[in-house]
Amino acid sequence: MKRLIKFGLGAAVAAIALASIAASGARAAGTSAAAREKRQMFLRGAELWPIYCNTCHNARPGGEFSPAEWNMILMHMRTQANLTPRDAHAILEYLKDSR
Ligand code: HEC
Repeated sequence: MKRLIKFGLGAAVAAIALASIAASGARAAGTSAAAREKRQMFLRGAELWPIYCNTCHNARPGGEFSPAEWNMILMHMRTQANLTPRDAHAILEYLKDSR
């Protein structure tokens, strides 16, 4: 009887452990898709920034302004540089994350 209880408990613990591993796996998959997208935008921004933002003046590095300031600046500079929304987003992502 005691052994049976022990086995039952062990199985319950194992089931809970498995369920939480599965849950954290699902969470990790969700965040990694978002993280991959973010990473791709960052890399694209890193490529585009020296091309677009260096044509009229020296390209200003991400650390020079706060993320809120970059939002404002990009609203203005994206029209100057004639950027597509996606390219503007990529450059913004890069500037904010390279601080
Ligand atoms: C067509 C020319 C042109 C392009 C391309 C351009 N800029 Fe500018 N930028 C300007 C001019 C002109 C000013 C200064 C006057 C103004 O604010 O309009 C300026 C000013 C700035 C400033 C200074 C703001 C301050 O308060 O010191 C920053 C930062 C900046 N640009 C960032 C960028 C970024 C990032 C890009 C790339 C997306 C970019 N610029 C592309 C013309 C350009």
